[in-house]
Amino acid sequence: MASFSSSSTLKISNLKLQCSLILVLIGVASAQLSSTFYSTSCPNALSTIQSAVQAAVKNESRMGASLLRLHFHDCFVNGCDGSILLDDTANFTGEKTAVPNVNSVRGFDVIDTIKSQVESACAGVVSCADILAVAARDSVVALGGQSWSVQLGRRDSTTASQSAANSNIPAPTLNLSQLIPFFTNRGFTTQDLVALSGAHTIGQARCTTFRSHIYNETNINSTFATSLQANCPSTGGDNNLSPLDKTSPTTFDNAYFTNLMSQQGLLHSDQELYSGNSGTTDSQVSSYSSSSSTFFTDFSTAMLKMGNMSVLTGTTGEVRTNCRKTN
Ligand code: HEM
Ligand SMILES: *[C@@H]1O[C@H](CO)[C@@H](O)[C@H](O)[C@H]1NC(C)=O
Ligand SMILES: *[C@@H]1O[C@H](CO)[C@@H](O)[C@H](O)[C@H]1NC(C)=O
Ligand SMILES: *[C@@H]1O[C@H](CO)[C@@H](O)[C@H](O)[C@H]1NC(C)=O
Ligand SMILES: *[C@@H]1O[C@H](CO)[C@@H](O)[C@H](O)[C@H]1NC(C)=O
Ligand SMILES: *[C@@H]1O[C@H](CO)[C@@H](O)[C@H](O)[C@H]1NC(C)=O
Ligand SMILES: *[C@@H]1O[C@H](CO)[C@@H](O)[C@H](O)[C@H]1NC(C)=O
Repeated sequence: MASFSSSSTLKISNLKLQCSLILVLIGVASAQLSSTFYSTSCPNALSTIQSAVQAAVKNESRMGASLLRLHFHDCFVNGCDGSILLDDTANFTGEKTAVPNVNSVRGFDVIDTIKSQVESACAGVVSCADILAVAARDSVVALGGQSWSVQLGRRDSTTASQSAANSNIPAPTLNLSQLIPFFTNRGFTTQDLVALSGAHTIGQARCTTFRSHIYNETNINSTFATSLQANCPSTGGDNNLSPLDKTSPTTFDNAYFTNLMSQQGLLHSDQELYSGNSGTTDSQVSSYSSSSSTFFTDFSTAMLKMGNMSVLTGTTGEVRTNCRKTN
């Protein structure tokens, strides 16, 4: 009896040891992200990306907005895995030609430039998905916004999904009750939706995305609507651009929210966040309009959450050497 129980204790502790070894191995494979992921493997990665983003934004301020949006459209489609960067080929259809992206997302050449600089510094180490996450943060900072510590260690997908890109990215025609589930189904709160929408404090939109809002809707300031119609005719001019934030389109500030309070949101979906009639998100818009620091804090928190969506870590996926194609 005594020998049985001591040998079973031994077996149990062996089992425990094996279990913990297995858990350690699994732990590596599904490791969480870390802000120091490249500290030893590529110590210059972050400064290289930052300099390249600063140069791109200095050359064309809109590029900051375009890079921020790329990270959003990457993360919302099967996670932050660089899938949006894969080019279509004869036998592969990716996300670039999905409805929300085609003729719309931009910045791929800047990502290529960054990737080749980072590859020269440390070949095969820094993923395209991490470059998108860091470039989004550096863009916000380059345009006057608040910094945050980006979590790193994402790996790149070997696939992409056009159908997921078509169904997971919200359209500008949605009303508030339709926008909310796009975010709450992915682990965000309605408050996160409002904070993240503040990204529209920078960048431009094409006439085709806001035409019905400025011609056919009543939740828009009529002076503002008329002024937009000059560059966005009721037919034609689909690609003509207008700023998402009429006040300061190249500064990351809280003016987007102030605009909503005078019914001067460009997209139908933007104006949906503030009805002026005790809408559920009105008070949050008002609070961001009075405090840029409250907006910046909430935006940073929500961006960390967004950057965490279904990431590939450890030995899953790969680190692409060219962001446009799998290795
Ligand atoms: C809430 C739902 C959202 C909708 C319906 C929406 C819709 C749109 C649309 C229609 C455009 C203009 C695209 C074009 O004209 O080609 C746009 C641009 C933009 N979006 Fe959003 N968006 C949303 C959320 C977000 C989020 C969460 C972010 C980032 C955190 C973001 C960042 C941007 C930026 C920066 C631009 C300007 C891009 C540029 O100038 O190149 N958007 N969005
Ligand atoms: C600078 O921006 C212009 C658009 O304003 C673009 O055509 C050009 O390629 C950019 N140059 C560099 C080096 O990024
Ligand atoms: C797909 O096309 C590429 C060239 O674009 C080729 O290298 C690859 O072998 C093809 N893959 C399959 C599975 O047919
Ligand atoms: C939002 O749009 C849907 C579909 O068009 C509609 O059923 C719903 O009543 C709308 N909600 C509001 C608050 O307008
Ligand atoms: C405005 O609504 C009318 C009636 O539904 C429609 O015929 C017209 O095409 C719409 N115009 C725009 C610019 O969306
Ligand atoms: C509409 O826009 C004009 C011009 O920006 C502004 O002066 C006016 O206060 C706005 N009206 C309302 C009701 O917000
Ligand atoms: C990111 O995801 C991990 C694993 O699911 C979780 O432990 C962590 O709290 C998340 N971080 C954020 C900022 O959401």
